[in-house]
Amino acid sequence: MATSFGGVADVYERTRPGYPVAAVAWLAGEHSTEVLDLAAGTGKLTRSLVAAGHDVVAVEPSEPMLAQLRAGLPGVDARLGSAEALPLPDASVDVVTVAQAYHWFDPATALPEIARVLRPGGWLALAWNVADATTAWVEELWQIVNPDEPRTVERPDIGAPFGEPETHTFPHSQRLDRAGLVGLVASRSYVAVREPAERDELLAKVAALYDRHAGPDGIVVPYVTHCFRSRPLA
Ligand SMILES: C[S@@+](CC[C@H](N)C(=O)[O-])C[C@H]1O[C@@H](n2cnc3c(N)ncnc32)[C@H](O)[C@@H]1O
Repeated sequence: MATSFGGVADVYERTRPGYPVAAVAWLAGEHSTEVLDLAAGTGKLTRSLVAAGHDVVAVEPSEPMLAQLRAGLPGVDARLGSAEALPLPDASVDVVTVAQAYHWFDPATALPEIARVLRPGGWLALAWNVADATTAWVEELWQIVNPDEPRTVERPDIGAPFGEPETHTFPHSQRLDRAGLVGLVASRSYVAVREPAERDELLAKVAALYDRHAGPDGIVVPYVTHCFRSRPLA
């Protein structure tokens, strides 16, 4: 499923939320630093890191996702690579950010790799946007799309050589039109890999949900951005 993003790079870029400014400051720090945005995808977090004044290198294994990133952020050093084999020298960045992707990594290989590229004093920062199911229509959406998926993010399993993570949550939201809400669901990896007929049926239910709940200006999806920071143990 980790490779399914390539087929939905365009809809991913159009429909997935970015990250709140306060979360970006918590993840990467208040001062301008050198940041590796790992699993950068189409550049949703990369864009905010650049806007916050950081010097960013983006690494991403999917060519179509990387192509979207390069088109949108032509000034960013964007490299093909994976968490398990980073195309960076030792001790070359201050922060490694990973948004919406740490769960795809093989931590046994990726964590030592991330520690290798971090400078002394640097840290790993993880983030996930999760649609807030305490809003009734969002819970309806979860029931349609993936009733068994947890509605929150548990503390991620960040083991050696990293220490216990600090955690923080930030409120976030995104306004979408009908095609946007349908696209948001279509860009989920477990939807992208379904049989076409099954996927179309699911997306029709999402469109009907939109029609029941949206106003004239679309629908606002409430999110919680779950963030974690962890430093290598000395
Ligand atoms: C849900 S997207 C998140 C993209 C971006 N960080 C964002 O916030 O929009 C997950 C990304 O993880 C990438 N990915 C999957 N396995 C990976 C791995 N082992 N190393 C690095 N990236 C990986 C996928 O190609 C995809 O672009």
